[in-house]
Amino acid sequence: MKVAIITGASSGMGQEFLFQLLEEKSQLEEIWLIARRTDRLMDIKKQVTGVKIKCISLDLTKEEELETFQKQLREERPEVKYLVNAAGCGFIGEFREVPYEKNQTMVRLNCEALMAVTYCVLPYMQAGGGIYQFASSAAFLPQPGFAIYAATKSFVLSFSRALNQELKKKKIHVLAICPGPVKTEFFDIATTTGEIKFYKKLFMADPKKVVRKAIKDGKRKKQVSVYSVSMKLFLLISKCVPHAFLMKFVK
Ligand SMILES: NC(=O)c1ccc[n+]([C@@H]2O[C@H](COP(=O)([O-])OP(=O)(O)OC[C@H]3O[C@@H](n4cnc5c(N)ncnc54)[C@H](OP(=O)(O)O)[C@@H]3O)[C@@H](O)[C@H]2O)c1
Repeated sequence: MKVAIITGASSGMGQEFLFQLLEEKSQLEEIWLIARRTDRLMDIKKQVTGVKIKCISLDLTKEEELETFQKQLREERPEVKYLVNAAGCGFIGEFREVPYEKNQTMVRLNCEALMAVTYCVLPYMQAGGGIYQFASSAAFLPQPGFAIYAATKSFVLSFSRALNQELKKKKIHVLAICPGPVKTEFFDIATTTGEIKFYKKLFMADPKKVVRKAIKDGKRKKQVSVYSVSMKLFLLISKCVPHAFLMKFVK
């Protein structure tokens, strides 16, 4: 059975990935949607016809819930065509001003959970499969005032690029998606601890367009997907200008 697994499917870009994969007519027979909010997953399920949807309510920061997911994989042995790791969160603020447990949640969800899900799902993927990892343009440069989030996304970008090389022999493609600010629920959560920088509001992207570009870049076997001219320019600047100088500007 050809299956897609999407984490962070209850909102934002994870949810958008579901609808765009359905448009792609990618011969999927079943899609597993993972997030904590069961009601949201069930509402999304009601909007889908023609493909079996499995809603899996999990808190991916909890070891025992990750084990439940692993057990489900072992029992069902799905043939996974796509894995989309979209679950993620950020909390704005200087390191010591953000409560420790929120810093920990970013590391657990953005790094550990993404790594764990990828590790568990990979044995069920075959040649032609694709893994979409949500990093961020925050991965391009350390961000004072959003330090842990940017560090977690550097982890995702570095891990995904290396994994893409490792999996070439198995013909499984890994894409790191690195958008700038995107209009989703992300900032409702991120701004519970601090204010969004004014310039980020100027570059807010449409989640539909970010996901469309990611799917296109995945088909082209790119290793990194960067949506919008401004973010491509940011990537270029972050490669050419000393980070010490850029960080003063970001601050
Ligand atoms: N929006 C942006 O500006 C932006 C920019 C660059 C990169 N990104 C990255 O893109 C990805 C998608 O973000 P988004 O913008 O679509 O944000 P979003 O709308 O807030 O979606 C985040 C998703 O993660 C799930 N999630 C959060 N905590 C979880 C947990 N403990 N266990 C399981 N699922 C959990 C949420 O579902 P539940 O709450 O139901 O669990 C939700 O479905 C994230 O990795 C984010 O870091 C976002």
